[in-house]
Amino acid sequence: MHTTAPTLDRLLGDWAAGTGPAHRKLTERIRLLILDGRLPLGVTVPGERDLAATLGISRTTVATAYTTLRETGYLTTRQRTRSTTTVPPGRTSAGHHATELVDGQLIDFSHASPPAPGAALHRAYTWALEQLPRHLPRHGYAQIGLPELREAVAARYRARGLATTPEQILITTGAQHGVHLLVRTLLRPRSRVVVDHPTYPHALHLLRSTRARITPVALTDTGWDLPALATATHGADLAYLLPDFHNPTGLCLAPAERERLRLGCPTVVDETMAELALDVEPPVPLAAYHPGVISVGSVSKTFWGGLRIGWIRADPALIQRLAQARAGTDLGTPVLEQLACVALLGQIDTILPTRLEELRQGRAHLLGLLGAHFPDWTVTPGVGGLSVWATMPDPISSALAALAPQHGLRLAAGPRFGVGGAFERHLRLPYSLDTPAREAGMYALVATVQAARSGHRATDTPPAGLA
Ligand SMILES: Cc1ncc(COP(=O)(O)O)c(C=O)c1O
Repeated sequence: MHTTAPTLDRLLGDWAAGTGPAHRKLTERIRLLILDGRLPLGVTVPGERDLAATLGISRTTVATAYTTLRETGYLTTRQRTRSTTTVPPGRTSAGHHATELVDGQLIDFSHASPPAPGAALHRAYTWALEQLPRHLPRHGYAQIGLPELREAVAARYRARGLATTPEQILITTGAQHGVHLLVRTLLRPRSRVVVDHPTYPHALHLLRSTRARITPVALTDTGWDLPALATATHGADLAYLLPDFHNPTGLCLAPAERERLRLGCPTVVDETMAELALDVEPPVPLAAYHPGVISVGSVSKTFWGGLRIGWIRADPALIQRLAQARAGTDLGTPVLEQLACVALLGQIDTILPTRLEELRQGRAHLLGLLGAHFPDWTVTPGVGGLSVWATMPDPISSALAALAPQHGLRLAAGPRFGVGGAFERHLRLPYSLDTPAREAGMYALVATVQAARSGHRATDTPPAGLA
């Protein structure tokens, strides 16, 4: 894979800010991009001349930066080929197997994902095992989903205020799989896609990998800029929006705004967090206001990420098209997990209140800790979801994410949630961990911030993938 000079330019953001020689700042920023996974491993970087021209700097500056990166093990060059990204031996970059290497040692603030409701999950699997014999005589490839789960998901939409039939539902292996399927089916290279800014990093990753042109529409402190969305979506190929407890901010599009929203292009709404209404009434899905909207859902945040169950809600013709397109990469979602989800969706009204109360308490605890340790940070909590989006006085987010593992913590750098290197002053902090982990993570964060402010450089493993 190859990174073009304009792409690297966008990822670098305002790398030249601050004091010190330009080659050193460029080296450090590229190193951070490799460490936190925004620049994947094995990617060819642009030639020196190209990058220098794009950045408007001398070729010597780029050459010196590349030489340092080569000497420190972050670039490798085989004879007469272009340099590719790598990490020094003994280290692991984000997106590779850092999770497996560090689990059990690091407190994970890079995932906003709650633990499973253990007893309910156990009961659901017991029931699923009892149901399994009914399915064993058939082949088990559930390419569009088990009828009983498609009906259970449709019923949940009806309960949330949106008439839905099972024919409108395709079961996927998680929401990310659903978004992937949609992006692959609906977009071509260079398609223009409108996204919230900030937005969910793995969706951005996906859009970049399909070479979409991304148009970010900035969220305000209180929500969505409706006129800006109407303008940006006009003539675009797709919009990918998170109006239901937006990740990372926790904001929710109010009912009156749902009605006023004008969408000028096909729109995918990712409702992964939709059930996590902490301070407001659960929102009626956007598709109830705008019938053409395609919804993506998941049980990952409502029940558990380990189930790997999600879905797409769209008109039946598109559902059939997606089911066929799916065969190119996978042939269905595991039957036992689908059956367990039928049981869990049947119990949602008893599972959800406890989950929401735990999250409210977790959020209050996190906000208390943040207020005590970082009085100069601004944190305006949203009204649901799993995280807060903190604003720091200085642009140190990538440095914190790279340094954090040395202090026992994994963090997701703010720029992962944006394009063009934005959000260096931001950090997403989850409140879905248990109290001891939240407290220990906060002490680790305090140590990390102190280290970053005293100019320490990262030498260790950064966070792996996030969710
Ligand atoms: C907005 C959003 N979409 C998709 C996902 C991925 O969901 P799943 O685990 O169902 O693939 C997440 C998980 O964090 C998310 O927050």
